[in-house]
Amino acid sequence: MMRPRYHFAAAANWLSDPNGLVHDAGEWHMAYQYNPQGEDWGHMAWGHAVSRDLVQWEELPPALVEEDGTMIFSGSSVFDHKNSAGFGINAMVAIYTGARSEPPHQFQCLAASTDNGRTWAKYAGNPVLDRRMADFRDPNVFWHAVSQQWIMVVVLSAENRAVIYGSLDLKTWEELSEIPTLAAPGHLWECPLLIELPVEGSADRRWLFKVDVLSGAPGSGALYVTGIFDGRAFKADGPWHVADMGSDFYAAIAWHEPRDAQGRPCWIGWMGNHAYQAKLPRQGWRGAMSLPRRMALRRDGDCLRLVQAVEPAVEALFGSAAPQTLTLVEKPLVPASRMVPDAVAKSWTIEIGAPCGRHLMISRDGGSVRVQRKDPFTPDLDMVREAPLPAGADLTIWLDHGSIELLGDFGRMALTMQHRLDDAEWTVRADRPLAVQLSKLA
Ligand code: FRU
Repeated sequence: MMRPRYHFAAAANWLSDPNGLVHDAGEWHMAYQYNPQGEDWGHMAWGHAVSRDLVQWEELPPALVEEDGTMIFSGSSVFDHKNSAGFGINAMVAIYTGARSEPPHQFQCLAASTDNGRTWAKYAGNPVLDRRMADFRDPNVFWHAVSQQWIMVVVLSAENRAVIYGSLDLKTWEELSEIPTLAAPGHLWECPLLIELPVEGSADRRWLFKVDVLSGAPGSGALYVTGIFDGRAFKADGPWHVADMGSDFYAAIAWHEPRDAQGRPCWIGWMGNHAYQAKLPRQGWRGAMSLPRRMALRRDGDCLRLVQAVEPAVEALFGSAAPQTLTLVEKPLVPASRMVPDAVAKSWTIEIGAPCGRHLMISRDGGSVRVQRKDPFTPDLDMVREAPLPAGADLTIWLDHGSIELLGDFGRMALTMQHRLDDAEWTVRADRPLAVQLSKLA
C-alpha cells in the first residue's frame, strides 16, 4: 500500500500509541509504541521522531528498547527544567510502563536524556512505582504549577480505574486520589490524559480527563469528561462524551506544552484499532498517526464539549481550493486531498472509490454524517460509523493514503477511519449536484 502523504508513519514495522510527547529547543518529540522486529505487535519499544512544525517528521533511532524481557509500554515525557529528578538541568525524562509477560507484571519506570532526546539511559532505580499488578500502565505526567508538583494519571486497566499520583522529584510518588468512574461504557481502560484546556471565547479554563476504552465503548473508544482539578482530586462535571466517532483514533495524548496564542495544546492519536489491526495485510509497515489537532472546550448549554482543530501548519500544506461541482459522473481524485462540501446542501452521498473495488461512502443528512467503509479484501474493515452533525454545520474531509479524517461543526465533530484504497487512481462522485472546495497538497 502507498504510504501516507501527510500523516506520520514509521519507515518500517508496527507503530501504535503516541508516547513521550515533549517539546524542547524548537523540536516536537514524538515517541510511539514500536516493534523494531516487525509488523506485528510485540517487543514493544519507543520509536522516536522529531519535527519543527508538527508536519515534517524525521525518524530517529528508537529511544527505548526492550531489555531482559521488560518491554517499553506507553507513557509520557517531561522537560525537567529545575533538575528535580537529579538527571541534570533541562533533562528530558520519560515515564513509561515496564511490562513483563511471565508472570504478567506492569510497573512505572524512568529514563532520561541530556542531549535533546538523542540518547536515553534507563534509571538504575527502576521501577519507581509498582503496585505488583498485571495491568497498571500508561502514565501521563505533567507539571502542575498551582500545587508545585508533578502529577501522574495512570490506569488500573482491567479494573477500569484511573489513579492520580503526585511527586516532587519524579522518583517518589504519593497516591492522591482516584478519578470517578461515572458508569463509563466499555471495558479495559488505557492511555489516560488529564489536561487543562481553554474555554473558547472566554478567559475560562477547565480540565478534561480522557481515557481509551479497549472494547465496548462508542466511537473509537476515546471517552472524555470535563471537570476541575485542584492538585489532588479531579471532580467531574459528567457525563462522558466521545472524542472521535470513527473506529481509528486511539491512545491520543497531548504535548502539555507549549500552547498556541489561544492557550490550546496539541494532541495526536494512533489511527488504529486493536480489534483488527493485526489482521491488516503486511506491507512492510503498519500504523500511522492522526493529524495533530489543537484542543479547546466549547460551552454547549450546561455542558462543555471538546473541539479539535487541525494544526494550521497542516492546512498550509494545501494549495488554494478549486470549486467543483460533483455529480454522478466519476471524476479522478488526487489521493492526498482536502474536501469541503457545501454546508448548505442538506443531504448527499459522496462516494470515493478505487479501481480495486474498495469504497468509502460519506453521507450527510439533516442531523448526522456517516462513513461506510467497504473493503472486499479485508472484511474486518467493513463497517459504518456515524456522528451527529447539525444542518448547516461545516465539514472538512481530510483524505490521505490509508486514512480519512472528518472534522466538522467547527471542531466539535471528529470521525477518523483507516482505509485501504491503495491504488494511485481514485474517483469521486456525488449522488446529486454538490458544490465542493477541493484542494491538493501544494
Ligand atoms: C494501547 C496499549 C497500551 C499499552 C500499549 C502496549 O494501545 O494497549 O495500554 O501501554 O498499547 O503496546
